[in-house]
Amino acid sequence: MPLKVVRAGDNEKQTLERLLHMCLHELSERHEIEVDCDGRFPVEDFDGYFRRGDRAAYFIRVKDKLAGFVLVKQSEALDGGKLYSISQFFLLHMYRGLGIGEEIARTVFDLSPGTWQVPLNEENPAACQFFKKVVWRYTAKKFRETSVAGWDGQVIEFSSPGAGSAEAIIKAGQEATVPIRHARNVEI
Ligand SMILES: CC(C)(COP(=O)(O)OP(=O)(O)OC[C@H]1O[C@@H](n2cnc3c(N)ncnc32)[C@H](O)[C@@H]1OP(=O)(O)O)[C@@H](O)C(=O)NCCC(=O)NCCS
Repeated sequence: MPLKVVRAGDNEKQTLERLLHMCLHELSERHEIEVDCDGRFPVEDFDGYFRRGDRAAYFIRVKDKLAGFVLVKQSEALDGGKLYSISQFFLLHMYRGLGIGEEIARTVFDLSPGTWQVPLNEENPAACQFFKKVVWRYTAKKFRETSVAGWDGQVIEFSSPGAGSAEAIIKAGQEATVPIRHARNVEI
């Protein structure tokens, strides 16, 4: 299958760090983020994505080529259930506008059944449009916009039932193939 999400392993930290810096540099166009004296953007608890059970980093691969990444955080919901959120989502420019982001997001939601809260950053209206459309279609409109402590903006909250074939959070080095549902992806 041409589209995959692959859970990043310890030996891939540098690869993720490089992609993350491209992402943060792009986001710094609209959002003031300063680099440190070594020229690095600050990344909150980067190592946590490799050593904590409640964090996951996934690479996006298109025809086995590295195309981007997704960072997912897990916490406990008030009712004791699992609560997931996307803390970063990035595709290299050449892979955008083809429906790949949507397919990857759907698979990442499927991999982690439970409640999801996707933060909307008003300073990144394109990402807001993307997440609203994707969640609207993924949930068949069954989501709500709300606010949560610790995020100065709206979040989209919805439930992922998971997918029969997908396990909850795959282990480091494991991959999930991404079903392609949209015609514009057929040529990928
Ligand atoms: C956001 C991002 C992941 C979207 O990926 P993508 O593969 O280009 O998105 P898709 O092609 O799957 O688009 C899915 C839907 O979202 C919409 N969408 C995607 N990018 C959009 C944009 N820039 N503006 C408005 N709508 C957009 C698409 O129109 C599409 O809806 P449609 O089928 O009705 O036309 C990608 O643009 C990216 O990596 N951006 C830079 C990093 C970033 O901002 N990340 C999000 C914050 S963490």
